[in-house]
Amino acid sequence: MAVGIFDSGLGGLTVCDAVSKALPDIPFVYFGDNAHAPYGVRDTDDIFSLTCAGVERLWDEGCDLVVLACNTASAAALRRMQETWVPADKRVLGVFVPLIEALTERQWGDNSPPREVALKHVALFATPATVASRAFQRELAFRAVGVDVEAQPCGGLVDAIEDGDEILAEALVRSHVEALKRRMPRPEAAVLGCTHYPLMQKAFQDALGPDVGVYSQASLVADSLTDYLARRPEFLGEGKTSRFLTTGDPVRVSTKATQFLRRRIPFEAA
Ligand code: DGL
Repeated sequence: MAVGIFDSGLGGLTVCDAVSKALPDIPFVYFGDNAHAPYGVRDTDDIFSLTCAGVERLWDEGCDLVVLACNTASAAALRRMQETWVPADKRVLGVFVPLIEALTERQWGDNSPPREVALKHVALFATPATVASRAFQRELAFRAVGVDVEAQPCGGLVDAIEDGDEILAEALVRSHVEALKRRMPRPEAAVLGCTHYPLMQKAFQDALGPDVGVYSQASLVADSLTDYLARRPEFLGEGKTSRFLTTGDPVRVSTKATQFLRRRIPFEAA
């Protein structure tokens, strides 16, 4: 009864950690495509092919349901996958909708027309591909009116995190927050629209100041997956064991993952 978690690299571990805590009896198989990270600077076709390859690998592990714990893949590939590629007995879910439902104070499946919400000025930090897709604004527009979104493509940040270069990552967070604030001086909320960014959540909060609510996806996706599996238990696949798979160097990736999550994460070659 395993569930798959996919990311371009280490970022999805923030989601994997939260879902494993919320659903401790379910085995999760993680696939990090570290050899091809970052996805955020790739074109849409490339992101689509790499994401399909990773998801197929998770199907081979007995995961009938895969969560794309990657905003870039969710923004650039998910809709095309669902429309043209995912077979009827499998499911692939993304990470945008739980976040937007939280921002707009909606319950799952509330398809009522868009309405005014409390937040008016929202800063979005994401990869260049996610920002270019405008997927966040599109999903938000289905649910809310009158929200001003200013998006900041955070070039270089995923590479710095994947390389474990915290000093560079912190400097990049400060400079991306400053760039955003020049265009939107007083955001009420900031969305970390890349699953790598919660690993730098403190740096974002420090740069934004204590009055800005920072939304990250890990716990929101965990709640939404718990709810989904309660409604659709048939998508718990046959897999029995938790595993961490990578297309990169398993020793290097395990070291970085262990450093980030502060517990041993043993990666194997995918
Ligand atoms: N964690 C991915 C995301 O949420 C990282 C993207 C990348 O590889 O650039 O967008």
